[in-house]
Amino acid sequence: MLKKVAVFISGGGSNLQSLIDYNGEYEISLVISDRIKAKGLDRASNHNIKNLYIGKKNFPLKEERTKEVLKVLEEEKIDIIVLAGYLSIVDSLIIDKFRHKIINIHPSLIPSFCGMGYHGHLVHEAVYNSGVKITGATVHFVDEGVDSGEIIMQKTVDISSEDTPDEIALKVLKIEHTILPQALEKLASGKIKFDKRRTYIGD
Ligand code: GRF
Repeated sequence: MLKKVAVFISGGGSNLQSLIDYNGEYEISLVISDRIKAKGLDRASNHNIKNLYIGKKNFPLKEERTKEVLKVLEEEKIDIIVLAGYLSIVDSLIIDKFRHKIINIHPSLIPSFCGMGYHGHLVHEAVYNSGVKITGATVHFVDEGVDSGEIIMQKTVDISSEDTPDEIALKVLKIEHTILPQALEKLASGKIKFDKRRTYIGD
C-alpha cells in the first residue's frame, strides 16, 4: 500500500509541485496551509488533492490549530508529513505522534545558515553576505528543535561572485525540487535507517 502523505505549505508551493510531478511511490492525500492565500492551495486543487487552510483566522488559538491538524491527519490516515516551505512551528504533539515521519526542506547546507531566524530569503541573504562559494539544500527529519533533526539528503550548488541573493535562491530552489521528492520516496518505501545522528539510505 502506498504511504499517504500530507504536505504543509505557506506559499507558492513549488516544492509541493515537485512532489506531485515526481510521481513517486507515495500518495499525496492532503495539503495544509497556514496562509489563506497560499498559491500552493490552488496547485493542490488543480490536482484534486484535498487542501485546507488551518491558521490564525479560523483557529485563533495554537491548541485549537494543533487539535484540528491532528484530527484531519487522522481522518485522512496520513503516514508521512512533508514540510515544504511551511513557516509555522509544528507543535510537539504532532512531532511526537509522527516521530521520524516528518521531513523538512531547508534552503541551505545544515548546519550552516539554519536555526532560529534563518528562513525564506533571509537564508540566501546571509549566504550572500558571508561570501561562501557553495550553498545548497538539506532534507532532514523534524524534531522539537529548529532545523535540528537528522540529515537525510543534501545537495550543493556553486555560487559565483556575481550571484545576487535572488539568483542564489533560484539555484537552491532548483535543487530543492530534486532532493525533496527523492528523500520522500526513500522514506515512503522504508529505505531510511538511522543510528544516532547518522542516516543510511538504501537503494
Ligand atoms: C523554499 O526555498 C523552501 O526551502 C523555503 O521556502 C521556499 C518555499 O518555496 N523554506 P515553495 O513554496 O515550495 O515554492
